[in-house]
Amino acid sequence: MSSSGCNYFYRIHRKHPKRMGFLYILCILLLSLTITVLSVKVNGKNDNRRHIVIIIADDLGWNDVSSHGTDQVMTPNIDSLGYAGVTLGRYYSHCICTPSRSALLTGKYAYTTGMQGYPLTNGEDRGLPTTEKILPQYLKELGYATHLVGKWHVGGSREKYLPTKRGFDTYFGHRGGFVDYYEYTSEENWSIGKVSGMDLYRNETAAWDEEGYITDLYTEEAISIINSHDASKPLFLMMAHLAPHSGNDGAILQAPPEVVRSMRHVESPERRIFAAMVKKLDDSVGDVVEALSEKGILNKTIILFISDNGGMTSGDSVNYANNYPLRGLKMTPFEGGIRVVGAIWASDEITSHQYDGYVHVSDWLPTLLKAIGEEPPNNIDGHDLWANIIMNQTSSRAEIVEIDDMAGYQSYIHGDFKLITGHVDQKYSNHQGKDLLGIIGKPPSYTDAIVNSKVYSVFKKAGRTIHFEDMVIRNRFKDLCPKHDDEDDELCHPGNGTVCLFNIKNDPCERKNIAEANPYIVKTMIERLSIEKKRVIPRANSIVREPRANPAFFNYTWHSFVDQVSS
Ligand SMILES: *[C@@H]1O[C@H](CO)[C@@H](O)[C@H](O)[C@H]1NC(C)=O
Ligand SMILES: *[C@@H]1O[C@H](CO)[C@@H](O)[C@H](O)[C@H]1NC(C)=O
Ligand SMILES: *[C@@H]1O[C@H](CO)[C@@H](O)[C@H](O)[C@H]1NC(C)=O
Ligand SMILES: *[C@@H]1O[C@H](CO)[C@@H](O)[C@H](O)[C@H]1NC(C)=O
Ligand SMILES: *[C@@H]1O[C@H](CO)[C@@H](O)[C@H](O)[C@H]1NC(C)=O
Ligand SMILES: *[C@@H]1O[C@H](CO)[C@@H](O)[C@H](O)[C@H]1NC(C)=O
Repeated sequence: MSSSGCNYFYRIHRKHPKRMGFLYILCILLLSLTITVLSVKVNGKNDNRRHIVIIIADDLGWNDVSSHGTDQVMTPNIDSLGYAGVTLGRYYSHCICTPSRSALLTGKYAYTTGMQGYPLTNGEDRGLPTTEKILPQYLKELGYATHLVGKWHVGGSREKYLPTKRGFDTYFGHRGGFVDYYEYTSEENWSIGKVSGMDLYRNETAAWDEEGYITDLYTEEAISIINSHDASKPLFLMMAHLAPHSGNDGAILQAPPEVVRSMRHVESPERRIFAAMVKKLDDSVGDVVEALSEKGILNKTIILFISDNGGMTSGDSVNYANNYPLRGLKMTPFEGGIRVVGAIWASDEITSHQYDGYVHVSDWLPTLLKAIGEEPPNNIDGHDLWANIIMNQTSSRAEIVEIDDMAGYQSYIHGDFKLITGHVDQKYSNHQGKDLLGIIGKPPSYTDAIVNSKVYSVFKKAGRTIHFEDMVIRNRFKDLCPKHDDEDDELCHPGNGTVCLFNIKNDPCERKNIAEANPYIVKTMIERLSIEKKRVIPRANSIVREPRANPAFFNYTWHSFVDQVSS
């Protein structure tokens, strides 16, 4: 086809072979050059800059999405995103919120920026160092309109730490770890007693006029950003939900009553409310995908859905999330704390599959930059996994490190092996949540849930039917650790000189310590960890609550207290 314009020369060439053969070849060469130049222009930088939407769930457990096997909590929109795109089977994060979000924004392990350990409190003067260039700053420089809806939690004590000072054009959300789903207040236990303040901001102003269930507020904000977006510009929307994090003491689980009522198949009263919170989150994903479709930009958008860390089935900040059958909770380096829900979808480039290569939260910065045609920075820990993920290739990430010098543990994953050293709180280190999975009567139909979901119908309308065979993924995860009897297990707990080594491919539920049988592997992994430990920016071993941050000084808001003169 491309040579048709050269046929004139070709015909003459047949009559006068010597003279015109040269011209025919020259003509072909010129044509190919023109085509190359044209296609570079079409596929070049500007047109590659797709919109990016990152949706982050807060403390959503491994077993809290239906694509991982649960019949209790239906998440057809989140699942469909993965079925149409890529379900990440081995997606790892840090095991705590502030560290995970720091790694997402910087592309670096949290312990290299001093953001590891116990999450930021509202009364703490600390933030992600402003010397770090973060994802929204990269994207803003590239001409993106940048918006953050929802949780920040990497610094609010000074104005320079706030999202609007760090690359986001607009902000609507809570700055700290969590708030009440209706009042947007956050309570902390101080030595003087309970301290409470409002934490919902529009740009840098307290958003006193808002009302409604916070997941709805965040969804409406995201939709309004999408609707009013100038489509000639690329869009970066980061949507960091409060859900399904716990609220304040006394009201830790909150969802609209009619949604809770629709969860009457859930036996555990707490899980019933939790399931409703997750349904609202899942509906939000459907609404956002629908808004992108109605705006006509869905097919030019990359959508990433991730959880920030594992669920908190019991203990501090319990939300009755479920990581079962994975071992351990949030705040532990066991799989339940760090192996989390992840899915990515990107237009027609991806043929749907499950990706089993390692992906870490720090990989998104370089991966997304690559996806829009930019060279990622090289002074980071994250790997550009774009090609690996979309083409289902072996992951170039060979290892995953978790270091918390505050809690005093380290974990190191390499290949099939995972080593844990130091001390991990034992009350969060076992297999929890099996007893919370009861269902009254028959569970809801998964097929109906998928077919009735917004994401399914939006994709169907766009000619991308989600095939039911894709739900093989769900069944695979259901049998993640088929043979177990957790009650009888002698689980390995690190500490007092004991290190635990697991083969997380064969034993993803971390039941069998194989350290003694593999002294060489243990030695090599400890050596690697000791090198990595030299990169740690030390974290003070204290939970700070500065009296001057008291919301009473700031009209009962949690404010950037270092810069603000109290009213
Ligand atoms: C937030 O800041 C952006 C950018 O300066 C501005 O366009 C927008 O109007 C602000 N929103 C509010 C409510 O002040
Ligand atoms: C706050 O203190 C109360 C009473 O001492 C306790 O029951 C509760 O668990 C504490 N909450 C948190 C989040 O530490
Ligand atoms: C993307 O969707 C828009 C609106 O639905 C449509 O006009 C356009 O042709 C689509 N582009 C591609 C590459 O499918
Ligand atoms: C993706 O790669 C894995 C591991 O190599 C393989 O088992 C799987 O079949 C591949 N999936 C697809 C859709 O090619
Ligand atoms: C370490 O030793 C202390 C004191 O003997 C004990 O309380 C703790 O349970 C031990 N930890 C482990 C992991 O064995
Ligand atoms: C102070 O708080 C009240 C709500 O308690 C709010 O209505 C008012 O607008 C706030 N004042 C300022 C100056 O922000």
